[in-house]
Amino acid sequence: MAWKTLDDMDLDGKRVLTRVDINVPVDSGVVTDATRIERVAPTVQDILSRGGIPVLLAHFGRPKGQVVPEMSLQMLVPALKAAFGTEVLFTTLDGAEAAIAACPAGAVVLLENTRFEPGEEKNDPDLAARFAALGDIYCNDAFSAAHRAHSSTEALARLLPACAGRLMQAELEALEAALGTPKRPVLAVVGGAKVSTKLDLLGNLVAKVDMLVIGGGMANTFLAAQGVAVGKSLCEHDLAETAREILVKAEAAGCEILLPVDVVVAREFREHAPSEVVPVAQCPEDAMILDAGPESVAAVKAALDRAQTLIWNGPLGAFEIAPFDAATNAAAAHAAKLTARGDLVSVAGGGDTVSALNKAGAAEDFTYISTAGGAFLEWMEGKALPGVAALG
Ligand code: 3PG
Ligand code: MG
Repeated sequence: MAWKTLDDMDLDGKRVLTRVDINVPVDSGVVTDATRIERVAPTVQDILSRGGIPVLLAHFGRPKGQVVPEMSLQMLVPALKAAFGTEVLFTTLDGAEAAIAACPAGAVVLLENTRFEPGEEKNDPDLAARFAALGDIYCNDAFSAAHRAHSSTEALARLLPACAGRLMQAELEALEAALGTPKRPVLAVVGGAKVSTKLDLLGNLVAKVDMLVIGGGMANTFLAAQGVAVGKSLCEHDLAETAREILVKAEAAGCEILLPVDVVVAREFREHAPSEVVPVAQCPEDAMILDAGPESVAAVKAALDRAQTLIWNGPLGAFEIAPFDAATNAAAAHAAKLTARGDLVSVAGGGDTVSALNKAGAAEDFTYISTAGGAFLEWMEGKALPGVAALG
């Protein structure tokens, strides 16, 4: 590993500035999904058990350097207490020095939203120095914010002895196992609405994986680029040339591409809209493709059977509305079964992906589910993440 972990640090009596990502969904001030908070608990507890004082730095939302009361981290204190099983003392940056000095043993200090500071998103070295003055050690446990070069994720790492937290470590190890030095063949599943948001991703993957399943709305763009009529389907016709280039690159790299061979079509985009299965070449002019059909699912399952490693980002159909979640559910269930049996290493990430896998009841059996959205994508694109690079 190119970075240090908590194991390499002496934490006793040390103030450990710990960057976490607790940018969780909240409804009227109440946390509706505490996953990200629960996933940093091992780091906080490890620091406490070794005599350190965890001082948490985190952002919430995009307040753009302004104090936005609805984005105050104070509202997360009850959820943090519950997840950590400790006292959590909330403080503004101005009050932080006094709060940390007064922190009783076993308690955690939480600083106000780092993005209330105008310098945070500018990676301002002066703000980083203000943070650094509050701690002895820097621990970054926010993999899901590591694609941002901000004061609390990047500049600060260069000012103190720095290490990765337990969650950051687990994320990096899982991703390394999936794309760095994977067991082959490697199968990637990339779905979601648009090709335009995942061009770099597809371009990088075809050079690294052995098989690539393209699903969701973006598959329509590839089908149309090959002359298939897609009716009223979501499709980026202007990206036809780009899609063909990706297919050529895949062929040159020996990456097998799996596109739908049959599709589920409907006339309306709504739950339980009347639908039918047609061969991919026979999408009616007035219909739209909302899911992959059973033959396509069988082909994905067969590819999963051949694969040793799976990396998954994006649903295969309009998974939010039944019955157009069928292909995603079936593929996810099959991957979960193979993983549980020890026949597959499966890694998934991205906001929609995790909700799709949770909905399919498959997430529990996956080898690793990343907490990251944008950072997972950038990592899959082969980009260096500033927050990780700064630890090295
Ligand atoms: C996320 O929720 O993906 C991370 O917390 C990063 O948030 P951002 O996209 O606002 O930088
Ligand atoms: Mg995001």
